[in-house]
Amino acid sequence: MQQNIVFSEKALELQAIAKEIAEKYVRPHAAKFDKLQEYNHEAARAVADAGLFRTFIPKEYGGHGAGVLALALVAEELAKADSGFGVAFAVNALGSFPIILGGTEEQKKKYLPQIAAGDKFVAFCLSEKFAGSDASGLAVRAFDRGDHWEICGEKKWTTNGGVADIYTVFAVTDPNSKSRRISAFVVEKGTPGFEIKKVEDKMGIRCVPVVETHFDHVKVPKENLIGGRAGMGFKHAMMTLDYARPGVAAQAVGASQGAMDLANVYANRRQQFGVPISKHQMVQQMLANMSMHTEASRQLVYAAAAGIDENGPSPANSKMAAMAKCLAADVAMDVATDAVQVFGGYGYMEDYPIAKFFRDAKILQIYEGTNQIQRLVIARHMIREAAELEHLQAYIPLEIQEKYYEEEAAQA
Ligand code: CAA
Repeated sequence: MQQNIVFSEKALELQAIAKEIAEKYVRPHAAKFDKLQEYNHEAARAVADAGLFRTFIPKEYGGHGAGVLALALVAEELAKADSGFGVAFAVNALGSFPIILGGTEEQKKKYLPQIAAGDKFVAFCLSEKFAGSDASGLAVRAFDRGDHWEICGEKKWTTNGGVADIYTVFAVTDPNSKSRRISAFVVEKGTPGFEIKKVEDKMGIRCVPVVETHFDHVKVPKENLIGGRAGMGFKHAMMTLDYARPGVAAQAVGASQGAMDLANVYANRRQQFGVPISKHQMVQQMLANMSMHTEASRQLVYAAAAGIDENGPSPANSKMAAMAKCLAADVAMDVATDAVQVFGGYGYMEDYPIAKFFRDAKILQIYEGTNQIQRLVIARHMIREAAELEHLQAYIPLEIQEKYYEEEAAQA
């Protein structure tokens, strides 16, 4: 698929602002917030004050309307300094997309301006203990009680939970339906019965909370059903993930670049055998691979994001988003692994920032759809595309095989 990647002036401006904030408020404190497993409120405030939460919100609702490509550029810059902070930012887009893509006019007017201003943070509640990759297998229920909805159950791995004020929550409204089983709701912090329970103790991205959210007969106003129509939740979730995956993929590109930059600087300073280790060919090979693969994933991520900005939801963009997320996450893990290798024994210790890049990278291959699910999505699209490649059938005559089987049968 060919895709023009055009950076708007606004996108480049937002990228430059993000870079400045990352170096001033994020990188210097990354180790501290990682160790304490605490949220960097000061950096989030700086992001809000600089208008970066406006990036992905449409102009009509107080945003910059700068699109998914600009979101990717901002997430990448923040993640270069701290991958965890990159997702602390990008997850607000993930939580907002159900409203942007499927919300009613009233819901957009009510929630999006507050998100754009950075006054309210957002979280996305899809996964459950027994429903991760199988996103349609949810157990959390929402019951129609006439004048309100009532939500009961537990969600797992809610990134930004506790910090967020607005939660987009997916729940079963029609257990007997196959394709219209699920609906999405907005649940606000402080709603009685809605509680943050277990706060996870994580391997990486420790500066952003990941929690269990519990719903004990939570009364939700009728007008908080996203889109105003029950049964649209799974579609909204899938469309949201298509839009959000380039953002998390950009976080991965930032994580790759961040780890590679540290490894590059280290390789040029660390002396072994009387020369900087960057003079040794085996180290050069690692540096060169990091650079090639990071750049390749960056271009794919930008193309996926630009495609969404140009054409909106489509099967081609869904496939591109999955490819971008999968490749960029795998590259981030590989780059972080090699970057630790370049640092050698020092890389394994927490004295230098590179061990954190390694710990942070792993989740990229797991959340927003495991890389196995991305490959499944990609392959499903390919199987559909095969039907459009009819003209190639003439070059793959199956008669050869049929003849072989006929001969075998005759001999038997
Ligand atoms: N856009 C719109 N509609 C879509 C769609 C898309 N991309 N993909 C599927 N659909 C529709 C289908 O057309 C179908 O509609 P009909 O019933 O009307 O025909 C319906 O959805 C069901 O589709 P499938 O049969 O393909 O569904 P499935 O059960 O086989 O599952 C799946 C598909 C891709 C595996 C999906 O379950 C999935 O994406 N799983 C991964 C979930 C995930 O990514 N979770 C991440 C949580 S968020 C997170 O991790 C963030 C964080 O913390 C930071």
